[in-house]
Amino acid sequence: MSRPAGLHADVAEVLLTEEEIGAKVRELGARISTDYAGRRLTLVSVLKGSLPFMADLMRSIDIPVRIDLMEVSSYGGATTESSGLVRILKDLSASIVNEDVLIVEDIIDTGLTLNYLIRYLRGKAPASLRICTLLDKPARRLVEIKVDYVGFTIPDQFVVGYGLDYGELYRNLRYVGVLRPEVYSGTPEA
Ligand code: IMP
Repeated sequence: MSRPAGLHADVAEVLLTEEEIGAKVRELGARISTDYAGRRLTLVSVLKGSLPFMADLMRSIDIPVRIDLMEVSSYGGATTESSGLVRILKDLSASIVNEDVLIVEDIIDTGLTLNYLIRYLRGKAPASLRICTLLDKPARRLVEIKVDYVGFTIPDQFVVGYGLDYGELYRNLRYVGVLRPEVYSGTPEA
């Protein structure tokens, strides 16, 4: 069984550089600032993967925003697959009744996690509910979801970095990349 070589050494290919991500986040922040001008916007980030994106996006938005954090996990399923059964580990800390809410996601893959979250948050009677995702992998979508803001559409590859993990590692990469195949033959520590 092989062991991971190290943070950067485990990466086979960089898909999105730090500069490309930064430019896209600023572009999304500008669009959101224009679209929500004069309204009360609450950003709801989904931990843990969205943490860097949320931190950068909120600072690229130049209208007043509230933020809230949720954490969800999929029941069962392998490390690289979503099961669609979602457990809420951390709920919102404030009411979103009559608030304009924007969900800030790291990646939409099958869409099952987000589909659950949308239904859950709609039940809390926000004034509006939109979705912003840094990455979209439409090839694997199992449920149709209207995504309002997309950073990058990527091919059907498992990616890590800028918040995204494999076995809870690689979230601290400043870029988004694909791991070397040998890394998957080791046992993740998740
Ligand atoms: P979905 O429910 O299949 O859309 O998956 C949503 C969650 O699965 C994301 O929020 C990620 O945590 C995880 N995920 C999906 N694709 C990837 C990937 O390529 N790399 C890392 N995590 C991923």
